[in-house]
Amino acid sequence: MKQQLLDLFNKRFACHLFQADRPVAAADLATILEAGRLSPSSFGLEPWKFVVLTSPRHKHSLQAACFQQPQVGTAAAVVVILAKLAEMHPDSDYTRRLLAREYPGDQFAGALQNYRGFHAATDVKAWSVSQCHIAAANMMTAATAAGLDSCAIGGFDPVEVRRQLDIDPARHEPALILAFGYCAAAASEKQRLPLDELVEYR
Ligand SMILES: Cc1cc2nc3c(=O)[nH]c(=O)nc-3n(C[C@H](O)[C@H](O)[C@H](O)COP(=O)(O)O)c2cc1C
Repeated sequence: MKQQLLDLFNKRFACHLFQADRPVAAADLATILEAGRLSPSSFGLEPWKFVVLTSPRHKHSLQAACFQQPQVGTAAAVVVILAKLAEMHPDSDYTRRLLAREYPGDQFAGALQNYRGFHAATDVKAWSVSQCHIAAANMMTAATAAGLDSCAIGGFDPVEVRRQLDIDPARHEPALILAFGYCAAAASEKQRLPLDELVEYR
């Protein structure tokens, strides 16, 4: 199990061009979305929404908003991860519903007060987007487990993505775009710094 997990991390790579005519099975796409759904989030507030694009028309339009990166138009499915903004407000119905679930009964009032202070002191957009990246990582690992390739795409024009997906900027911020499919090229050798450059034990 441990080795299998490390094998998945080693196997995943950023695919820059997909086999455009090869669709992904609905069950595999469902597995990817489930991995996103099950991701951890601060206060359990799940600050993400997944917009799935599979039609060639939508994917090609989105490619233009991603500086024409070809993996967007050739992917079988593209998932735009939107970070929740307005719903993160302590007085929103959404936040109260999820906080009450995470902190039931007597715990709720204290948790809400705590969250209110946290929210006031936080860059909510950055906080929400950063959590979407956790979901994204899980989704890409799940894709590898399903035998699919993926690419994270942070290179996009957020104004254009908002316009294309008709996103209300007060409600959502495009956090990251994920392209999924079968890669048209083999992976190049994985390049990572050695652990001893990254880890410090104290
Ligand atoms: C937040 C984020 C944004 C990224 N944006 C892009 C992108 O816009 N275009 C692209 O081709 N790759 C993008 N990548 C993929 C990285 O370039 C790639 O993961 C990195 O070079 C390491 O290579 P590997 O994933 O093949 O191991 C992005 C990755 C992350 C995590």
